[in-house]
Amino acid sequence: MIALNDVHVIFAKGTPDENHALRGVNLQLDKGDFVTVIGSNGAGKSTLFNAIAGTYPVDSGTITLTGADGHVLDITRESEFKRARRIGRIFQNPLIGTAGNMALEDNLVICEKKGFRGLTYTLNHKKRAEYREKIKRLGLGIEGRLRDNVGLFSGGQRQALTLLMTVMSRPEILLLDEHTAALDPVNAELVMNLTREFAREQNLTVLMITHNMKHALETGNRLLMMDGGEIILDIAGGEKQNLTLADIQERFRAAKHRELENDEMLLS
Ligand SMILES: Nc1ncnc2c1ncn2[C@@H]1O[C@H](COP(=O)(O)OP(=O)(O)O)[C@@H](O)[C@H]1O
Ligand SMILES: [Mg+2]
Repeated sequence: MIALNDVHVIFAKGTPDENHALRGVNLQLDKGDFVTVIGSNGAGKSTLFNAIAGTYPVDSGTITLTGADGHVLDITRESEFKRARRIGRIFQNPLIGTAGNMALEDNLVICEKKGFRGLTYTLNHKKRAEYREKIKRLGLGIEGRLRDNVGLFSGGQRQALTLLMTVMSRPEILLLDEHTAALDPVNAELVMNLTREFAREQNLTVLMITHNMKHALETGNRLLMMDGGEIILDIAGGEKQNLTLADIQERFRAAKHRELENDEMLLS
């Protein structure tokens, strides 16, 4: 589905500040994989997402996407803008995934059309009813407010809308970078539950960075741990289903020959 082959990212190369942020990352995801990603601050998690999304070019290695028809597309040098049609991404800040100064229904139109290109539309009764149903399903009670500007909604509501809109744009892969970390506990659970439901129903392929160990352990079919720009643990299948925090500590010790400090991962 997506494959990273020996990907390196080096910041400030050749200067005293040189920082080898990704050190030969190899990763293959299958369609429908839901992978949680943990690791201390600075481990390279967001850099991994930036590499996949094309935020800046990688220094070496390749990134390929395989379509449903088996066609392999090398996206290593493709622009972030172009990749965004295939790769959905949600960040921590709940205010940036939606356009606050536009009506809720117009936000939905744009995400369905995957951008502003040729944006002429009329929303008929049928389309509005369809949008109301989609929003109702979020359980926020805002389905009657299609014409309200999104800026009027709370952070939790906006992150749930961002999730809905990102899923509506039908990404081949969904990147979640601590997308519940800035929400209060109730909204964080709400958005996490919606994330699991959408992923299951639509067989989404998801990478989810989280500092919430409970979410990392309870969610998905595979868990990665990053450290120092490398994937040091990759746990899937039955082992992932039964995984405990103690197992992770044990596996970390075996891989790194030192203890995992609590503040290296248990930040929330
Ligand atoms: N745009 C950038 N320019 C220079 N250094 C960066 C940049 N982005 C990240 N880094 C550095 O790369 C390393 C990995 O960062 P990051 O991927 O953001 O870590 P994480 O998301 O796991 O906390 C850190 O040392 C960070 O300071
Ligand atoms: Mg990060």
